[in-house]
Amino acid sequence: MFPLAERVSLVSDSITLAVTARAKAMKKAGIDVVGFGAGEPDFDTPAFIKDAAKAALDKGMTKYTAAPCEPELKAAIADKFNRENGLAYLPENITTGAGGKHCLYMAFMAILNPGDEVLIPSPYWVSYPEQVKLAGGVNKILRGEEKNGFKIAPQQLEAAIGPKTKVLILNSPSNPAGHAYTPEELRALAQVALNHPRLIVFSDEIYEKLVFDGLKFASFASFDPKLLDQTLTFNCHSKSFAMTGWRIGYIGGPTPVIDAINKLQSQINSHITSFCQPAAAAALTDPRGAESVEQMRQQFEKRGHHMWERLSALPNVTCVKPQGAFYCFPNISAYFGKAISGSGPNITDAISFSSALLEHAHVAVVPGNDSGFATHVRLSFATSMEQIDKGLDRMAEFLKTLT
Ligand SMILES: Cc1ncc(COP(=O)(O)O)c(C=O)c1O
Repeated sequence: MFPLAERVSLVSDSITLAVTARAKAMKKAGIDVVGFGAGEPDFDTPAFIKDAAKAALDKGMTKYTAAPCEPELKAAIADKFNRENGLAYLPENITTGAGGKHCLYMAFMAILNPGDEVLIPSPYWVSYPEQVKLAGGVNKILRGEEKNGFKIAPQQLEAAIGPKTKVLILNSPSNPAGHAYTPEELRALAQVALNHPRLIVFSDEIYEKLVFDGLKFASFASFDPKLLDQTLTFNCHSKSFAMTGWRIGYIGGPTPVIDAINKLQSQINSHITSFCQPAAAAALTDPRGAESVEQMRQQFEKRGHHMWERLSALPNVTCVKPQGAFYCFPNISAYFGKAISGSGPNITDAISFSSALLEHAHVAVVPGNDSGFATHVRLSFATSMEQIDKGLDRMAEFLKTLT
């Protein structure tokens, strides 16, 4: 046995990856699997962004850059935060990382001491608790309820804050449930944070552009200038600009934290990929960026409505209407205790439900277990209407066989 570090065992094996791997293997074997597992847009990166990267390569931008990025990108990000989010960040309040995930990890590493508590509303994005554990922190889950659209109430937050609480994570619009706070609801949570000036809020705003039904997105720290001192605002190019593979993320926050993150980053990965930097800046500054985001948003809105209507029409399935991102998160627990045509192993939770759905109906979904909800599954609508209909037809037939 190779002697690994203990920290590796802190991290749970990803159920999501296991299901995705099985779906991939089935596809490779020629099986027509409908994939609702993807956490990425099915659109290509807009051409003008790719062109900016190609031009940077042609100009020879293939060497080390300033860390964590060139000043032009920092300025473009600070300007974006000011213009679009009402956040008075200067370039020194900005850092970048290799995607939103890397930014969050660096921030946990820069902030948490052993035993510090992190409040995570559920259902949550799978990597938050794992990153917290790696950074020595302790997860405290604030359970969201389906009947409240999975949103936590200010009183619930107030009651959860204790002497060891250091960080609260907010993710609106959310992965995996697609729920999003209205500006008023967010303002009420912000008031609680203001009453606890030592609380640090990680506001994960990576789905900010993908909001539906006229919902207005508000950035958490925009409600009061004092919040800028206790908030880290996370964003990335992955979802808005269909750039998941580029690995570009960024953070706005108080300079002492940004400097600390940069200190860590300088010893770990130096900076984000050189020729991606001008492309990342172009996405934020060129008006074509906003246009392409809006086109994608409209598609997601249509698909989201359609998928939600079809899921809600399934017998004994309930589903909160997605307000943003590109996920539906239906409750399938009414089928627990049943088996296919009454024989074979019983379905006991979202994992066994997802495996049976994949094996028997060739539809890939993500069990909610890794997100704190073993009663729900996540379906991504970052796929075509045809695939949505095909997958939902199959799911409806599959449910009929469960007795
Ligand atoms: C809520 C949330 N935060 C952060 C990330 C990480 O994004 P990136 O792909 O830029 O690392 C994801 C990706 O799925 C996410 O859903």
